[in-house]
Amino acid sequence: MKATAVAPANIALIKYWGKKDSTLRIPLNPSISMNLSACTTTTTVEFSDDFEKDVVTEGFDRQRIIQHLDRFRTITQTHKKARMSTKNSFPTSAGIASSASGFAALTMAASAALGLKFSEKELTGFARLGSGSACRSIPDGFVKWEGEAAHSLYPETHWDLRDIIVIVEHTEKKVSSSAGHDLVHTSPNLQKRLADLPNRIVRIEEALRTKNFQMFGEVIEEECLDMHHVMQTQNPPLFYWNDTTKTIMDAVRTWRKEGLPVYFTIDAGPNVHLMCEGMDERRVLETLKTIVGIESIIFNKSAPGAHVIEMHLF
Ligand code: PMV
Repeated sequence: MKATAVAPANIALIKYWGKKDSTLRIPLNPSISMNLSACTTTTTVEFSDDFEKDVVTEGFDRQRIIQHLDRFRTITQTHKKARMSTKNSFPTSAGIASSASGFAALTMAASAALGLKFSEKELTGFARLGSGSACRSIPDGFVKWEGEAAHSLYPETHWDLRDIIVIVEHTEKKVSSSAGHDLVHTSPNLQKRLADLPNRIVRIEEALRTKNFQMFGEVIEEECLDMHHVMQTQNPPLFYWNDTTKTIMDAVRTWRKEGLPVYFTIDAGPNVHLMCEGMDERRVLETLKTIVGIESIIFNKSAPGAHVIEMHLF
């Protein structure tokens, strides 16, 4: 009763910010993301009658993990305790949210260890209960999350897009996204955002379908700035950017004027995700070297979703 699964983190092209139902983590709006090849979590879960208590990886949100294991114990009506170990392919101190890859890998490993035969849709529903954005790390490639479940729009082979994550700060974010989601209604700009999103979603889906990079880039920057506008006008306001974040955002506009097709997006932290097509990655890297204040850089392609890589049947 032991299984190991690997799951990617994902970058939101259309962001999830705010919940309709906090307990069930039902989002206010659909979101769309790309799985990241270089940011994965590998998790092993073992259930046994011999274990006296749950032993889970330290440093990660212990209570939330045990709550998640309980969901699987409830449906299988087992009281077996679990041992769980987990490893990120990226430095945990890189300031990249590991909850998406973490809860997606945990969901896959725990259900495989218990012999559960869930559909992909059901797995996304379970992952969502652990952490909202985790449901987008289960299907392959480019993924849309609507309501209770997520599904793949296109496999990772659809379009050679790159996400160059520019790490400008290694420290943990001061305000967790869970706490931030709950205060979204205090922003006077939320209603406008929700009214604008359906059109933005139509445009990003069109850009993905036709592989129109300019349209893709314009939508992801508009969306990033809109989500951060809402965050910054919440009460209390949430400012995730630092000086280097802003320097890079400005520089990206200059680089585009100079003929380099690259756009940015930013999640709940100061690190900048630079998105370009595969053929332009080297040029983006060369240009990036002129910026002071960068701590490290992670190169991602679009990646498959979560999958089981090892099972022990007894
Ligand atoms: O899944 P959470 O609660 O970590 O929220 C994710 C929030 C953002 O990263 C800002 C946006 C997103 O859709 O991933």
